Amino acid sequence: MTETLRTTALVVNEPGGDFVFTEVELDEPREDEVLVRIVATGLCHTDLTVPTMLPAEMMPTVMGHEGTGVVEKVGAAVAGIEVGDHVVLSFRSCRACGSCDEGHVGYCEQSLLLNYMGMRADGSTTMTKADGAQVGQVVFGNFFGQSSFARHALAYADNCVVVDKSLDLTRLAPFACGFQTGAGTVLNLLDPAPDEPVVVFGAGAVGLAAVAMARGLGVETVVVVDPLASRRAVAQEYGATAIDPTVAGAPAVEEQVRSLTAGGAAYAIDTTALPAVLLQAQRSLRNRGMLVALGLGAPEFTIDAIDLLSTGKVVRSSVEGESDPLVTIPQLIELRAAGRFDVDHLVATYSFEKIADAIADTKSGAVVKPVLVWGE
Ligand SMILES: NC(=O)c1ccc[n+]([C@@H]2O[C@H](COP(=O)([O-])OP(=O)(O)OC[C@H]3O[C@@H](n4cnc5c(N)ncnc54)[C@H](O)[C@@H]3O)[C@@H](O)[C@H]2O)c1
Ligand SMILES: [Zn+2]
Ligand SMILES: [Zn+2]
Repeated sequence: MTETLRTTALVVNEPGGDFVFTEVELDEPREDEVLVRIVATGLCHTDLTVPTMLPAEMMPTVMGHEGTGVVEKVGAAVAGIEVGDHVVLSFRSCRACGSCDEGHVGYCEQSLLLNYMGMRADGSTTMTKADGAQVGQVVFGNFFGQSSFARHALAYADNCVVVDKSLDLTRLAPFACGFQTGAGTVLNLLDPAPDEPVVVFGAGAVGLAAVAMARGLGVETVVVVDPLASRRAVAQEYGATAIDPTVAGAPAVEEQVRSLTAGGAAYAIDTTALPAVLLQAQRSLRNRGMLVALGLGAPEFTIDAIDLLSTGKVVRSSVEGESDPLVTIPQLIELRAAGRFDVDHLVATYSFEKIADAIADTKSGAVVKPVLVWGE
């Protein structure tokens, strides 16, 4: 019989359901696994979207993919991670397929299996309910190789980033996904020159991390579009020019962007996943500009084909900003220490018990990035 550990997880029992505090039995780590006591986990928009998309057969489930914590146990086959290490848990990759070999771990051929299927690669599950009417019921974990909306998580050498023990894990949690995605898109993919304007649609955690990185790289003109005044205010603190897309009678958003960027932005980043906004983003570009669609939401969106054909624009997406977490997260931590990636003030902490408040505050725009913490 597999040895297990009794712990607490926030379980979603049905598609679109609430996060319910539940006692669970979590497997002890296998030889390729690491047991982490979770200290803090960021709440990413994806944690709210995925439970509405999963089929009932993949429920109950545990979300959480921006975990941080302290390593409690290490499987015999894991190298480079020790008990007591402080870690940031990011997304998984197999590190053996063609994409991984080329360093593009976000496009790992095993990505779906390793991050989204709720089980290990061999099809086994890691958690069962430990009390209540459904004792013994399988709970699908392993979300992004962690399911870190829990007091403990099983993670892997390929998604565990060891960080200096002096660093505040509540500030590093968003580096696992949201901040890494926005910043990585700018740093790894776009690499804008100072005179290449960047426009960001949606000033949430992903969008503002992109803004912070663009400014950190010295981009002179950064434009941000968001209907929420509080989010626009945060963008303006970075020196960005903010547009409210809801002002009645104002010129079209794309016209406003083009006039602020001397004829069009070199790069546009969409974090809204709203089809109408993606069209604005495409039309905000100068000839040969690039739009990167980062949002997860609408299953389809429209491209302005005539504009595309006549301008040589590029429309593409990016998984996690082309990052390899084992490389990009330490790099972002260094840039943060050097004052070139200024994101700490975007974070607000909540106890895990207050997850409903955290969700409400991010939806209203009162908070950019909620991070959930376990009390002592
Ligand atoms: N590509 C990836 O690897 C990756 C990684 C992390 C997150 N994501 C996705 O990125 C998206 C953003 O995540 P987040 O955590 O920053 O979300 P968020 O909800 O904090 O940010 C979205 C922002 O879009 C704004 N918005 C709404 N309507 C708008 C409009 N008409 N025009 C401009 N802005 C508008 C909202 O006010 C909000 O500030 C989500 O869809 C998430 O699932 C993708
Ligand atoms: Zn791979
Ligand atoms: Zn995420």
